[in-house]
Amino acid sequence: MSRLIVVSNRVAPITEGEPTAGGLAAGVMDALRQKGGRWFGWSGQVVPDMVTPPLPVVEQRSGPISLYTTDLNQRDYDTYYRGFANGTLWPVFHYQAELARFDWVDFEGYRRVNGRFAEAIGAFMTPEDVVWVHDYHLLCLAEALRERGARNRIGLFLHTPFPAPAVMMNVPAHAELLAAMCQYDLIGFQTESDRLAFADYVLREMGGEARADGVLAVAGRIIRTGVYPIGVHVDMLRAEAEAAADSPQMQALRASLNGRALVMSVDRLDYSKGLPQRFAAYERFLAENAGWHRQVEFAQIAVPSRSDVHAYQEIRRQLEGEAGRINGRFAELDWTPLRYLNRSFARRDLMPLYAAAAVGLVTPLRDGMNLVAKEFIAAQDPEDPGVLVLSRFAGAARELDAALLVNPHDERAMAAALARALAMPLQERRERHGAMMAVMRRNSLERWRDRFEQDLRTPAALDSVA
Ligand code: ADP
Ligand code: F6P
Repeated sequence: MSRLIVVSNRVAPITEGEPTAGGLAAGVMDALRQKGGRWFGWSGQVVPDMVTPPLPVVEQRSGPISLYTTDLNQRDYDTYYRGFANGTLWPVFHYQAELARFDWVDFEGYRRVNGRFAEAIGAFMTPEDVVWVHDYHLLCLAEALRERGARNRIGLFLHTPFPAPAVMMNVPAHAELLAAMCQYDLIGFQTESDRLAFADYVLREMGGEARADGVLAVAGRIIRTGVYPIGVHVDMLRAEAEAAADSPQMQALRASLNGRALVMSVDRLDYSKGLPQRFAAYERFLAENAGWHRQVEFAQIAVPSRSDVHAYQEIRRQLEGEAGRINGRFAELDWTPLRYLNRSFARRDLMPLYAAAAVGLVTPLRDGMNLVAKEFIAAQDPEDPGVLVLSRFAGAARELDAALLVNPHDERAMAAALARALAMPLQERRERHGAMMAVMRRNSLERWRDRFEQDLRTPAALDSVA
């Protein structure tokens, strides 16, 4: 079988056990670890502009995975990553167009880096290789590869939501971007609404035509679209959670909780995650439920992310203020109602937290999938599981509909859901947890990888524009 080349902006650290905040790196690494493959991406390092491209590609091996990474120079980092990917596409794709800024110089940088990636991949790609590209940083990569003569099968999986056409059109370069996306052979989305939003644009704005089974004919090409909800390794996480049950970390955690119920959240510190709304809901819960005072603690782990983008600096400042204010309002000498931690945790250190929590609060304003929701469920003891309170705007809500689904903008409903979760009888907790585990076992990470790869390798039935 021809080789698989995976390409993404962010790659996971190759040494096992190191933290990887972000669903993409965690998911792709887990998927590749089993089957092996080549993975190309940014090293995470930025070098001064006087170091001129092409920058060297460094190869590292870990078991069946070969990792190829390259640095970015400052100008490329500023325009491609900080500017267009995170300053424009991220907010627009998460329906927060008012936070987006746009500059054609950034878009040019974005295209330039997609071209540099294509150049670097071209050096080790053979005509038979199949290329699987990930996420919004690389929407123009297939186009750049094709401009360099590649006729390989190239697929894109979008980890984020894809916005409705009217929202997408806030980006002045929307037509260029969508034309570039149509150079892929297969585009995978987390949910059917993301897929439909893309198809809607292609049909209405580009004069495309819908064929059977998600196949679109547009601009002389045939592209296949599909829904591939990313999953987690349920059994691996269960085993890690069981191992965590007797760990010294767990003992220390339980001792510090002193019998109090733990509510927990783990996120990158991102404005799409709905953290201010979550804090406000917790504050309201405390104000309305004096009986829970001293009986509950909320641990919010928020690892700083993209901290050189203005909107991320703002949200960080806002949350620090809010955390201090809420604790100032409710804390006692022997009770801190909100523990707010700004750091990354290795998975084995996250596990005791997941496993010990009575409630997982996962309430993004918008999220492609949200793997934390799935990790939380997998980590629960099936005999005495905790409860997931989940935003209906996370992709995960499509599968995990046995969670307590909430609208993150509805503070009162979120506070009520938290009270209900903390008081939920064992039988109901078991039933909800069992239903979610069954879905997660079906839509596993292996299935995500295998279905996407298989569809990418198989040309759509109508591979010519009749
Ligand atoms: P996103 O991709 O937007 O960050 P996801 O919820 O899909 O959101 O994925 C987040 C991933 O990053 C999960 O695998 C989670 O365990 C991990 N993660 C998030 N925050 C932290 C943290 N503070 N420390 C370690 N891992 C984290
Ligand atoms: O899927 C969400 C995602 O945007 C990934 O593409 C990304 O790698 C991750 O979150 C973390 O963000 P960053 O790579 O900008 O640190």
